[in-house]
Amino acid sequence: CGIVGYIGPKQAQSILLEGLRKLEYRGYDSAGLAVYSDGRLAVQKTKGALNALEQRLSSHPLTGEVGIGHTRWATHGKPSDENSHPHVDGALQFSVVHNGIIENYMQLKEELQAKGYTFTSETDTEVIAHLLADQWDGSLVSTVRKAVRHMEGAYALAIASVKEPDKLVAVRLASPLIVGVGDGENFIASDIPAILEHTRNVYVLEDGEMAVITRDEVSLVTTDGTPVHREQLRVTWDAVTAEKGGYDHFMLKEIHEQPKAIQDTLVGRVKDGVVDLSQELSLTEEEIKGIDKIHFVACGTAYHAGLIGKSVVEKLVRIPVEVDVASEYRYRDPIITPSTLVVVVSQSGETADTLAALRAAKQAGAKVVGITNVVGSSVAREADEVLMTWAGPEIAVASTKAYTSQLIAIDLFALHLARVRGTLDEQTLKAHTTALLNLPQQAEAILEQAGSIQPLAAAIAKHDNLFFIGRGLDYAVVMEGSLKLKEISYIHSEAYPAGELKHGTLALIEEGIPVIALATQKEIFEKMVSNIIEVKARGAHVIGLGIEGDTELGKSVDETLFIPATLPLLNPVLAVIPLQLLSYYTSVARGLNVDKPRNLAKSVTVE
Ligand code: G6P
Repeated sequence: CGIVGYIGPKQAQSILLEGLRKLEYRGYDSAGLAVYSDGRLAVQKTKGALNALEQRLSSHPLTGEVGIGHTRWATHGKPSDENSHPHVDGALQFSVVHNGIIENYMQLKEELQAKGYTFTSETDTEVIAHLLADQWDGSLVSTVRKAVRHMEGAYALAIASVKEPDKLVAVRLASPLIVGVGDGENFIASDIPAILEHTRNVYVLEDGEMAVITRDEVSLVTTDGTPVHREQLRVTWDAVTAEKGGYDHFMLKEIHEQPKAIQDTLVGRVKDGVVDLSQELSLTEEEIKGIDKIHFVACGTAYHAGLIGKSVVEKLVRIPVEVDVASEYRYRDPIITPSTLVVVVSQSGETADTLAALRAAKQAGAKVVGITNVVGSSVAREADEVLMTWAGPEIAVASTKAYTSQLIAIDLFALHLARVRGTLDEQTLKAHTTALLNLPQQAEAILEQAGSIQPLAAAIAKHDNLFFIGRGLDYAVVMEGSLKLKEISYIHSEAYPAGELKHGTLALIEEGIPVIALATQKEIFEKMVSNIIEVKARGAHVIGLGIEGDTELGKSVDETLFIPATLPLLNPVLAVIPLQLLSYYTSVARGLNVDKPRNLAKSVTVE
């Protein structure tokens, strides 16, 4: 979901709409605005896209210089006009937009209904509006503080009220929220792009904090009433970075940004030809030597980065690694001791499942390293150590440059540990570092061939089922390739360890079914070829992906794609790129909404 708030001298409607437009990438199913003018709050909201809201506003414009807006991704209550935000109390005194979940809303709702408050939606958010009316004590700030004391759960709120129309109140608990500081105008937003056009100076709210903003002032205070003194953050992203920059879709733009994202993630992390993170990590030599196991925990694409992490860390550092999907980790009672290192990986740094796992790991006494792409995100703030990926804002729902940057961050981390623990000699460390530094240019070379993937995608677009197969690291890569395809092309695909096919899945191989087979790992190349022959024999149409210079693979597949040669452990960084392009062009061939696939959100801040 997305939140925007504005207070200043300009008409709020267009600023709020523009802001919401910049947050569209987060995925949403409805949108709405509340604007204050002449002693009353007026609300327009509707199910569907922003265009639907815009259309309604063109016949029923909202005039006024103070307002809040929201794009909703349904949690409690289906997408509908009534369930859209902003929500108001019966007397239209308080309007609220909300991201997150109020966990005790049923109980609050019953209490309020017993007092005579009437509800018009199924949402948890509407409770807040009535609660504010119920708790009203003559001061908006103190009323909000009293109301949040009744609320359990996760929320980012923006509130406008006729009671004190010269201000907006923002509250944050476990759901991101920032305040943008302008000149004679101020903003609230759930994400930076929403306000970047107007200001680069922001305050990032922390859990349990609220902001009271007027046209000329921003004051931060905890929900207990303690004033907060916070440095303003200066956002350095340029506005263009958050736009499509000439590509048809954000996803294509982001695929093409990978050489830069990889490069940026490497910058400043190599000293004398060897990876050295001691400048940014405070883990001491002793702590690093004391680690006896590592858990990678993440969701979606970031989880797939963790799968690669397992092989890389185990190979280079010889520490046993487990990889978990965050929503499973938390509830499976993992064995965590003070010598366990937990690495959470999250592009947004706000994924609720990942955050819950992070907190559980900390609680159990583990040290947590957060690998994230968003400065000031919850993961960045709550992890003991942060290793940033510098991919820049990722807007397409399907993650691409964040994934490759995560792989780089993991490689850097593994090499750092290997150096400190002495598991690799100087020469090997240098060879790995050099190979890492070559990746941006090699990624660029793959992208220059992007067009050759288009015809393959056009053929795949006609199928409803296909398989990805690989062994070892290639298996982890095809899991990501398969997810990418599912997310944006809606084609069912399955990623399978190639050697395991014969134990069941081979039954599904029939005439003409496409199989994408990765064969980038030298050590198991022959075994992989045997598996390719198995599916070919049953009629599969095989697209093989191998290493440049390989003259064998072409003999057993129908089509071949190549990536430049690097160290086998780094192959995934390059091998995923053709798979991303294949998904992208397949989605385009099917005429789908590439950047905003159905049912998915960029950042899922609910568990
Ligand atoms: C959502 C997105 C995925 C992403 C996952 C984890 O489900 O649709 O693309 O991989 O969240 O996101 P994170 O921000 O934690 O990396």
